[in-house]
Amino acid sequence: MPHTHRLENFDEHLTSHMLVTADLEAGMRLLRNFLKNNDASSAYEVAEVLLDIWTERELVHAQAEEAFLFEEIPSLKIFHRDHELMATWVDEARFTLDRDGVVSSRVLMRLEALSTLLHTHHEHELECLKRHYHQLATNSSAHPVLSKCDGSL
Ligand SMILES: [Fe+2]
Ligand SMILES: [Fe+2]
Repeated sequence: MPHTHRLENFDEHLTSHMLVTADLEAGMRLLRNFLKNNDASSAYEVAEVLLDIWTERELVHAQAEEAFLFEEIPSLKIFHRDHELMATWVDEARFTLDRDGVVSSRVLMRLEALSTLLHTHHEHELECLKRHYHQLATNSSAHPVLSKCDGSL
């Protein structure tokens, strides 16, 4: 996990979110276009690439957060459920794509759900991180655990 230590840096964490989001959104736009144009084999290839991005980048990112960042910032543990849902839906989408051999409505439904979850997950996670770093910067004697984070979600 080469980017593990960089997660502790807010700007690098934010950049990592933005890069994976941009690639997934670009892939989803392509996928919707191929489906609209009835290009099943191109749609299948893009869906495979999307699931690879999910597995190799986003799920790896989530694992690194759980392994390293959750210990440093316990308030982030509320995001475990999101990470779990991501992994489950990626598995389901991959299984269904392999089984059906095409991007069926069930595969598309999972990929769309993942996109929506990612958007909300990033928004909430960054909000908690911002509060954490702000609190550390403005009142170093305060307890670093952010109970507010749980309340806002
Ligand atoms: Fe993150
Ligand atoms: Fe996360």
